Amino acid sequence: MRQHSFALREFDFMRSVAALLLFASFARAQAPTDDSVTRGRKQFAKTCSFCHGIDATGGAEGPSLIRSALVRHDRNGNLIATVIHDGRPSKGMPPVPLTDPQIADVVAFLHWTVDEADKRSPEKPVGYSLQLLLTGNAELGKTYFERHCRSCHSPSGDLAGIARKYEPSSLQARFLYPGDVPKTVSVKTGSGEQIRGTFAYADPFSIALIDAKGWYHSWPRDQVQATIDDPVAGHLRLLAEYSEADLHNIFAYLETLK
Ligand code: HEC
Ligand code: HEC
Repeated sequence: MRQHSFALREFDFMRSVAALLLFASFARAQAPTDDSVTRGRKQFAKTCSFCHGIDATGGAEGPSLIRSALVRHDRNGNLIATVIHDGRPSKGMPPVPLTDPQIADVVAFLHWTVDEADKRSPEKPVGYSLQLLLTGNAELGKTYFERHCRSCHSPSGDLAGIARKYEPSSLQARFLYPGDVPKTVSVKTGSGEQIRGTFAYADPFSIALIDAKGWYHSWPRDQVQATIDDPVAGHLRLLAEYSEADLHNIFAYLETLK
């Protein structure tokens, strides 16, 4: 009997802890604690919400950013900043002249909002965006590919079997943001010597590379002519061009390359 009432009291205690936790998570969903997120929310309300909706779920003039693959694959603004900077004027997204710190705040707000939306939604974020991506039209994706990707890729060459090589979520990530592709540098020194190698370092005053034998070379920038070749630059430039529909279509097409 004594044991029974103890168990009851314990149950009551557990219930209040659960209520408290529930309240805490609710409170967290209501108010961001991070200053950057708070500033970003205000900035978003002022410059973005009339198109994308106050909570970024989409409005009459702009798509949902919660369901955006681009936003989900953004890391610290690497994808979102370009869209804010350059806009997609032909598609109704104007360039928005924000400073870098303002962009960082908006990016922090968007990531926070996506996280909150995922906590409320029973579906997992990756599954969610993948499910959406797979609703694309592979035929339209193929047309897009022929027009914009063929100059660098071939479905029977470098991308043959790509969908077998990667899980859908990593294929999507690699397509949006290919990783770890080294840049090359060619340097012509004052005496006319040409050296090529893998990019190692650059700032306004110096540039450095690693040559084929693994040696590190560095020069004052104003004493050499240097060209940096980033193989992925052309690929990344396209990021500003894709609409949400394009992304889904291209992805559906890539998934057929088995
Ligand atoms: C200006 C050249 C260029 C254009 C245009 C381009 N890409 Fe790329 N792409 C690259 C480079 C370079 C890489 C990185 C090297 C690699 O992984 O093949 C890459 C990587 C990829 C990868 C990852 C491959 C892997 O094995 O990890 C995919 C998928 C891809 N691109 C798809 C596309 C699609 C789809 C388009 C058109 C919408 C496109 N690319 C347009 C140059 C380009
Ligand atoms: C005048 C309306 C308008 C304003 C203002 C606007 N956008 Fe957009 N935005 C759009 C439209 C329309 C698109 C879809 C363009 C397309 O189809 O490629 C878009 C696309 C985007 C995308 C890409 C989504 C994706 O998945 O491809 C991002 C990110 C974005 N906007 C962020 C912002 C942010 C952040 C702001 C404020 C700094 C902002 N936008 C202001 C209309 C707007």
